[in-house]
Amino acid sequence: MLKKVGILINGGDAPGLNAVIRAITRTAEKAGVECYGFVDGFNGLLKNNYIRLDKSKEASGILHKGGAIIGSSLNSNVFNYKVIENGKEVYKDLSQVCVDNLKNDEIDCLFTLGGDSTQKSARDFSLRGINVIGVPKTIDNDVACTDVTFGYNTAVSVATDALDRLHTTAETHNRIMVLEVMGRYAGWIALESAIAGGADVALIPEIPYDIEKVVQKVKQRQSIGKNFSVVVVSEGAFPKGGSISVKDTRQGGSGVINIQLGGAGEQVAKILEAKTGLISRNTTLGYMQRGGTPTATDRVLSTKYGSKAMELALNGTFNVLTVLKNGKLDYVSLEDVVGNNKVIGAVEGGTAESNMKTVRLDDDLVKTARNIGICLGD
Ligand code: F6P
Repeated sequence: MLKKVGILINGGDAPGLNAVIRAITRTAEKAGVECYGFVDGFNGLLKNNYIRLDKSKEASGILHKGGAIIGSSLNSNVFNYKVIENGKEVYKDLSQVCVDNLKNDEIDCLFTLGGDSTQKSARDFSLRGINVIGVPKTIDNDVACTDVTFGYNTAVSVATDALDRLHTTAETHNRIMVLEVMGRYAGWIALESAIAGGADVALIPEIPYDIEKVVQKVKQRQSIGKNFSVVVVSEGAFPKGGSISVKDTRQGGSGVINIQLGGAGEQVAKILEAKTGLISRNTTLGYMQRGGTPTATDRVLSTKYGSKAMELALNGTFNVLTVLKNGKLDYVSLEDVVGNNKVIGAVEGGTAESNMKTVRLDDDLVKTARNIGICLGD
């Protein structure tokens, strides 16, 4: 019999987090289960800092709100946690502190709302005897084994709105407008927003680009009287034979989450201006994609994920990730999500062996983009 469950968020925020919290709390209360939220993710779990989530108090009136009422931890891997000892930074495995806290608090199941690296930590906790259930959160849509993550639809909508706005200014001034969007090493946001926003070019990490192909596209448009172009560049896009644009690194850049991407759009805009003679401007959309109100689609998806996660807990199905498989709610084992990235407490984030879901070249989105004449830089 479940009595108490806990919710923890790790990683960058994504629209829909509060909707998941609300759905878990409501489904739990209906079954007589108490719900708690760890404050600031893994940091709260380490300090045993949690709040009670009550459907008519803390978890009320939050469905439409961005961010997360219980906060999130950023870049926290408790299996390899940065602490300062004698004035020096050292990395320690503090997971046992978390395990003890969960056991002392009598938390029967921990819901981990997060992406690739969070679900890796969740799997590691499951190996330490903790009941965990993951919920796939990230605007990047790059979590393995699920059709879609919550937060993604809102990010695509924000990027599409930005493209609509850039389109009119591009046309008015005969310019090339470049929009750099997030997504890390997956081109989902770029590709889908390019289709939705009628962009002429979409550059994604999965297809290293040849800038000459982009120049050709811009020139071909000029030849039919279109003296402007709209280009979407994924932050992880890079030229053939070149490398990704890195803005900053943490922990020596080990693991994907320790590399802050940035600059890919600026680089494309500069080269296009030099090669086409058209004035080119880059806009980096940044954190606008993560903050604020979730779309209706994300509110519904988050609610479905949250209620399914609690349903799984009530049925005693643990150590799984709640997923959408061919449009239907389902679950997969965390082992499958982790893929080959199996080492316990390995550097957070996907490694070379990560099971991260990137755009496959035979994806319908790629085919559609090509069919309607969006240049993918190849
Ligand atoms: O994973 C979500 C995401 O917003 C990525 O799209 C982006 O590359 C990254 O997080 C930014 O991370 P940070 O919040 O550490 O700047």
